[in-house]
Amino acid sequence: MEMTIEDEIQALRVQLKEHNFRYYTLDHPMISDADYDVLLRRLDALEHDLGEDIPEDSPTQTVGSPISQAFTASEHAIPLLSLANAFDAEQVKAFDQRIADALDDDTYDYIVEPKIDGLAVNLRYESGILVSAGTRGDGRVGENVTDNVRTITDIPWRLMGENMPKVLEVRGEIYMSKASFQALNQSQILLGEKLFANPRNAAAGSLRQLDASITARRQLSFFAYGVGMGADGWVTSQTELFERLHGIGFPVQDYQCFSNIDDVLDYYEAFQNKRSQLAYDIDGLVFKLNDYSLQDEVGFVARSPRWAIAHKFPAEEALTTVEQVIWQVGRTGVITPVAVMKPVFVGGVMVSRATLHNVQELQRKDVREGDSVWIRRAGDVIPEIVCIVDDEAHPTRLPVAIPDVCPECSTPVVQEEGEAAIRCSGGLACPAQLKERLNHFVSRQGMDIDGLGEKLIERMVDEGLIHDVASLYALDFSMLATWTGMGQKKINNLQQAIAASQSPDLAHFLYAVGIRHVGQATARSLAECLGSWEHVRDANEEVLLNIDDIGIEVATSIQSFFKEQHTIDVLQRLYELDVHPQACEIKQKSQDHPLVGKRVVLTGSFEHIKRSDAQQQLRDLGAKPSGSVSKNTDIVIAGEKAGSKRDKAEALGVTIVGEAALLAWLSFHD
Ligand code: IVH
Repeated sequence: MEMTIEDEIQALRVQLKEHNFRYYTLDHPMISDADYDVLLRRLDALEHDLGEDIPEDSPTQTVGSPISQAFTASEHAIPLLSLANAFDAEQVKAFDQRIADALDDDTYDYIVEPKIDGLAVNLRYESGILVSAGTRGDGRVGENVTDNVRTITDIPWRLMGENMPKVLEVRGEIYMSKASFQALNQSQILLGEKLFANPRNAAAGSLRQLDASITARRQLSFFAYGVGMGADGWVTSQTELFERLHGIGFPVQDYQCFSNIDDVLDYYEAFQNKRSQLAYDIDGLVFKLNDYSLQDEVGFVARSPRWAIAHKFPAEEALTTVEQVIWQVGRTGVITPVAVMKPVFVGGVMVSRATLHNVQELQRKDVREGDSVWIRRAGDVIPEIVCIVDDEAHPTRLPVAIPDVCPECSTPVVQEEGEAAIRCSGGLACPAQLKERLNHFVSRQGMDIDGLGEKLIERMVDEGLIHDVASLYALDFSMLATWTGMGQKKINNLQQAIAASQSPDLAHFLYAVGIRHVGQATARSLAECLGSWEHVRDANEEVLLNIDDIGIEVATSIQSFFKEQHTIDVLQRLYELDVHPQACEIKQKSQDHPLVGKRVVLTGSFEHIKRSDAQQQLRDLGAKPSGSVSKNTDIVIAGEKAGSKRDKAEALGVTIVGEAALLAWLSFHD
């Protein structure tokens, strides 16, 4: 039987109400924002097509969801509305046109603010004192979360300044920074608790706790962006509101004003690149008419103002399904679980694979074939599976089996003590490892051999033409000529490219041979300090440790590389086949790092680097990191939430610097 338009409307309303409940009340959504928007738009279009009165409780007319029974009600003096969304420039222009049509005067300014991805709250101040705080709820009545809100340090209990309205409702967004979100999920892992899909859900879940001491531990933040009751006569524009809000003690975001919609759209385009640099998630920009009297003139529709619109960014998170978990063997034999997923558009690109890093990570996340998963791709970062959607079917699926033999060569898998990774013990007898090693060897940063792609390497190994990297210089090109797709021109080019790589730059060569822990930067340091590959091969530990950015782990790895029989054989063969890395001019150290010999103490947490990593890097630079502050300490580097050590340093008059100085020192090169 065919579905009537009424049936479809009914079905969509039921579906959307359920999604609202999962999102707003349970903090565990089952669909992505983008998919939700598609359903909502479809319902909106059908309701218009049908042309009948739309009931007040239709999801197109309401915001949020009725409040949970667990909380008492908190009524907003003036309703908290939502924003209409625009997904492209055309929709923004249409919005601007509606504004132009509604206003007599055609000069007006837009204010542009980032759209924070958190949850809206209404803070009620009476005579400057915080008396209640409510979530948005259904827009009219929210959940009373006053005690929880009092634990958020960004939110003042008492407002500063004079001439304040007797009752002032401040509106804004409670959010969790990216760093706090990462830290929270790490601790959820340790406690064996469920992971949060994104900072927004984590913020919502943390605020809506019956025990406010849990909220207090969760590091929530706040930005103010609006005012309900009390606005009249207090401020006349959004820019003025921001100044006032800031003046009475609220954090506010940066904003920009424009008098023309094309400039607004240019700003939006440019802002997309800044998105990943912010310390917190945003999901778009909000464009508002700046002048409040013009806002009044333009007015409202059911659930949102007509004077504002949210121009969304492409979603950085998406829901998809894991079809299979496969095991990939890398260059060093590490076997990595990789999820093959139903392709999905996220962070602006199509994604169908995500690494699960290692067995431990796979088991922690408990990803099983058939599970729905949240994936995330922010900025240029590789996509990752954040967590599974814990639905009823998950327990009925089998956990992914951990291989006990290599999926490529069937030799037993080994796991070294203290290592999360499992490895193939087949060494270069494993074709997968050999292929990866060859790909690395010929790569642009390595020997830079053009025309030798993955497919060709695969075939060469499979057909027994190549046994190690040296075989490349003894290739039987007449054999290649018999392969389909290998014309004479291609073969000539390949032959030339291989010949051209016979006297590589030393740093490239050292990178190409694939020494564990030696990336491009370390390869360059080795080349510039030691000058020839024989010197690198013969360098003892003391010599190696004297080189910038080489610590004990790297030094050990270099030494054991050159002791391996396979390495000795291959280097010998390369030499005989006329592969001779060029000598490199030795660079003298011109100036020591400013921290050499300095006693430094790191305290607090840093946004861009783990404290333990910073400590190691400082040690490598020649500084002397220590755990406690004394009068002999030269410098204290204090991050977020630095406590008693910072106080002690202050009392002793020791120099204190922040994370920016730390990062500058770590990237200092003479
Ligand atoms: S103004 C009446 N400004 O986005 C209009 N909202 O999708 C009130 N949001 O409910 C909203 N950043 O929770 C406004 N700079 C900003 C915002 C912002 C985030 C949230 C807010 C709102 C939702 C609408």
